[in-house]
Amino acid sequence: MTVHIGAEKGQIAETVLMPGDPRRAQWAAETFLKDAELVNEVRGMLAYTGTWNGHRVTIHGSGMGMPSLSIYANELITQYGAKTLIRIGSCGAMQSHVKIRDVIIAMTATSISTPSRGIFREINFAPCADWSLLRAAVETAEAKGIAPHVGGIYSSDVFYDERPDLSDIMTRHGILGVEMEAAELYNLAARHGVRGLAVLTVSDHLQTKEALPADERERSFGEMVEIALGAAFA
Ligand code: HPA
Repeated sequence: MTVHIGAEKGQIAETVLMPGDPRRAQWAAETFLKDAELVNEVRGMLAYTGTWNGHRVTIHGSGMGMPSLSIYANELITQYGAKTLIRIGSCGAMQSHVKIRDVIIAMTATSISTPSRGIFREINFAPCADWSLLRAAVETAEAKGIAPHVGGIYSSDVFYDERPDLSDIMTRHGILGVEMEAAELYNLAARHGVRGLAVLTVSDHLQTKEALPADERERSFGEMVEIALGAAFA
């Protein structure tokens, strides 16, 4: 057990999928894993370990925002030996050619700040995805008939942003979408020498103000789980 994870050593797989929402972790485990077992429920942050095509996998909620993800990813890596961590989540589109339901695979993640700011200080570290995972995720998506957008995203500290000029700057620099976790996952993966990736579905559009209807969120979430699993074990 760690401060925030109730699992015993050995109950967490080397491959961990991390949705923001713990209930999504439960849904994904029940839908995609065989013999899924609940391994954490401290603070309601559900995690399940089971197998997919014979491979052991843990699906562990990250919570919303980089400070929350940082707690779980740190403990999963340093206390439980996680080696591959893939965020599966939603994002807001920042480009007109990126549409609702599209899949974005984040090559890199820009931020204003992250929980690693105190370590990097004057350094503008460039958090980037693991190449082998990124390539395998693109190939897995394409094999399923999905053409993902691959490029930079913005990991914001706020959902309710009072600075529309920031979104504008991101859009003008080709940033595909905004979410709140990936940059710190990539920082931690780099620091600990493990593999990190974020696979995202566009749930809302910052320019058109469209939003994915609730009943479609499950289907698009399922596609991300399949892309992440395919990439992890390619
Ligand atoms: N902003 C930040 N995070 C998000 C958004 C957004 O518009 N949509 C989904 N996650």
